[in-house]
Amino acid sequence: MTAMPRRYHITTFGCQMNKADSERMAGVLENMGLQWSEDPLSADVILYNTCTIRDNAEQKVYSYLGRQAKRKHEQPDLTLIVAGCVAQQEGEQLLRRVPELDLVMGPQHANRLQDLLEQVFAGSQVVATEPIHIVEDITKPRRDSTVTAWVNVIYGCNERCTYCVVPSVRGTEQSRTPEAIRAEMETLGRQGFKEVTLLGQNIDAYGRDLPGVTPEGRYQHTLTDLLYFVHDVEGIDRIRFATSHPRYFSDRLIRACQELPKVCEHFHIPFQSGDNEVLKAMARGYTHEKYRRIIARIREMMPDASISADAIVGFPGETEQQFENTLKLVEDIGFDQLNTAAYSPRPGTPAALWDNQLSEEEKSDRLQRLNHLVSIKAAERSLRYLGRIEEVLIEDQNPKNSAQVMGRTRGNRLTFCNGKIEELKGKLVRVEITDVRAFSLTGNALA
Ligand code: SAH
Ligand code: SF4
Ligand code: F3S
Repeated sequence: MTAMPRRYHITTFGCQMNKADSERMAGVLENMGLQWSEDPLSADVILYNTCTIRDNAEQKVYSYLGRQAKRKHEQPDLTLIVAGCVAQQEGEQLLRRVPELDLVMGPQHANRLQDLLEQVFAGSQVVATEPIHIVEDITKPRRDSTVTAWVNVIYGCNERCTYCVVPSVRGTEQSRTPEAIRAEMETLGRQGFKEVTLLGQNIDAYGRDLPGVTPEGRYQHTLTDLLYFVHDVEGIDRIRFATSHPRYFSDRLIRACQELPKVCEHFHIPFQSGDNEVLKAMARGYTHEKYRRIIARIREMMPDASISADAIVGFPGETEQQFENTLKLVEDIGFDQLNTAAYSPRPGTPAALWDNQLSEEEKSDRLQRLNHLVSIKAAERSLRYLGRIEEVLIEDQNPKNSAQVMGRTRGNRLTFCNGKIEELKGKLVRVEITDVRAFSLTGNALA
C-alpha cells in the first residue's frame, strides 16, 4: 500500500447537482485527512467532476485529463479520478482512452468515494458505474459558501426528453426522505447558513418514489408538502428550489410559494422551445399554451415573481418559423434570465440519430439572435427595480471593487452595494437600487 496522499484538488464542470456532489466528495476527502489545494499542480489527488450535457462540455474534460495524464508519468503516485456524468457515460472506455486514470465513478457513487479510494490505494484501478441505491450523506460536505447551501432532494430523472443524456447518466429518480432533508437544513441553520436551494433535475417529481398517498389519491410527499415541512427551520431565512418541469408544475406549488414567507418568488422553469411541434419531438409533454398559462398563473398570484428558464435552439428539424415561435415566447414572457444553448447531439439519445440535423452555422446564428433578444428583455425586466428597496442577502465582496459587497435579491438578481464584507456577510440588507443592468443591479445599503 502506498503512502497516504495529503493534498487534493477538485475541478467541477456542469450544473448545481455536480457542484453539490463535489462539495460532498470534498467533505469525504477532508474526513480522510486530505487538505484542499487551490493549485492542481501541487495536489496529489486530482478529481474532475465532469459534465456531458453538450459536446463542448465533454471535450473540455478530455483536454484537462490529457494534461494530468502526462504529469502522472513524472509523478506516478498522483491519483487521478474522473467522477460525474462523463464518467458514467464512458465507464470502462474512459480507462482505455486515458489508462493513467485510477478511478472512474458515476454520480450515484459520490458518497462512496472513501470506499472506492481505499481500493485504489490498495493497488486497483476502479470503475464504479453500476446503478445503486444512493447512500444517505454520511460525511459533512465542505461547502464553498458559508451563506448559501444546496440540499439535494431528489436524484436522477425519469423523463425521456429526446435530446438529453441526464436520465442515462444520473439514473432513475430517488427521493430523500423529508426527515433527512429537514435534518440537513437544521444543521445548516445551526452552522449559520441563511439560504438553502433544494435541488432536483426534475424537482416536481419529488416524492413519487416515496411510500404514501393521501385520501384524495395524491402522493403524500410532494415538493409542495416538503416546502411546508421545512419552511420553519430555524436560522434559514430563504428557500429556493430548482429545476421545475412545466409538465408537472402545480397550482398548489404556486400557492405554497405565495404563502410561505421564506420561499423566494423565483421560478426556474425551462421551456426549451416555443413551438408545439418541436416540443412534441423533444417529448416534453406540454404545449407552449400550457407554459404560458403557468407563467400567467404565477404572475396573477405574485405579480413581481422573477422567471428564468432554459431553451435550446436548432433542435433537429427546427424550421425558421418554429425558431421564431421561440423568439415570440421570449418576447411575450420577458424572462429575468434565460440559459440558452445550441442543440448538441448526445450519445445514446434518440434525437442524435435523426437525419434532420441543422448545420452548426444555422444553430449558432439562431443562438445569437435569441441571446440578443434575451438581454434586451432582461434589461427591461431589470428596470422595474430602479428606485425600489430590495432585500439582499450578502454573500461576498465584489471581486472587482473592494468597497462593495454583493448578494442576491429574493428574485435572484445579483446586486452590488457599498459596505464591508466582515460586517455584512450573511446579513439581509435593504438596498435602494440606483443602477440597473440586464443581469445585475447596484444600490445603496440602507442602515
Ligand atoms: N432537468 C432540467 C434541465 C437539465 S439539463 C429540465 O428538464 O429542464 C440543463 C439544460 O441543458 C436543459 O434545460 C437544456 O436546455 C440543456 N440541454 C440538455 N441537453 C441538451 C443538448 N443535447 N443540447 C443542447 N442543450 C441541452
Ligand atoms: Fe433531461 Fe428532460 Fe430530465 Fe430535464 S427533464 S434532465 S431535460 S430528460
Ligand atoms: Fe452536466 Fe450531469 Fe449536470 S451532464 S448538466 S453535470 S447532470
